[in-house]
Amino acid sequence: MIDLARVTRPLIAPSILSADFSALGRDVAAVERGGADLIHVDVMDGHFVPNITIGPLVARSLHRVAARPLDVHLMISEPDRYIDAFVQSGAAMVSVHVEAAVHLQRCLERIRTLGAKAGVVLNPSTPASALADVLDDLDFVLVMSVNPGFAGQRFIPHSLPKLQRVRDALAAAPVPIPIEIDGGIDATNAADVVRAGADILVAGQAIFGTADPEAATASLRAAALAGRPAASPV
Ligand code: DX5
Ligand code: ZN
Repeated sequence: MIDLARVTRPLIAPSILSADFSALGRDVAAVERGGADLIHVDVMDGHFVPNITIGPLVARSLHRVAARPLDVHLMISEPDRYIDAFVQSGAAMVSVHVEAAVHLQRCLERIRTLGAKAGVVLNPSTPASALADVLDDLDFVLVMSVNPGFAGQRFIPHSLPKLQRVRDALAAAPVPIPIEIDGGIDATNAADVVRAGADILVAGQAIFGTADPEAATASLRAAALAGRPAASPV
């Protein structure tokens, strides 16, 4: 079980949304060789977001071949209906959008009851204050730095000050809660987002959109480490 309360260096979570869907096992193995900490799985339903991607059956197959924990990002309406299926398919982390989960606290409790880590996702226009009443129910927060639905979008600059606001909102939590950032992350902004408070960096195009996803994973980690204060443990 991944210990999210003890994250001491930036974690890299390649998003398979930009991988070759006919060769997911090969692509996952490549980023794992490059040092990926998590495998980010983007689940879209064509309703909450315009795109449609993958379901629990694909997650189950990935779980069989992946050495790293699956980080499942649910961009779906009524996420309550699919939490069990994704955890049973091997998800170690499951995150649900504030904007999609009518019964957010119940979703988080269910994810934890099933033995996975529970995350809350904030769209770019959703304020950090949305976290205030679920601080006891959270294992991580995912800050969207693009509007969800597609890989390869441009990083929204407003995400940097927002990371700090999320960090402040989490200060009242009973345990340290890591912040994941997702959308438009690459080697040019990795240090900035780490400096602003991100602990887990998701990247799709910046990794699988290159000729060498293994090397791109390692490069992104190196870029992220540059955002750590010199004295901090890595
Ligand atoms: C966006 C997804 C992201 C996306 C990231 O809706 O949640 O995980 O795949 O892709 P890039 O890094 O290309 O923005
Ligand atoms: Zn995602």
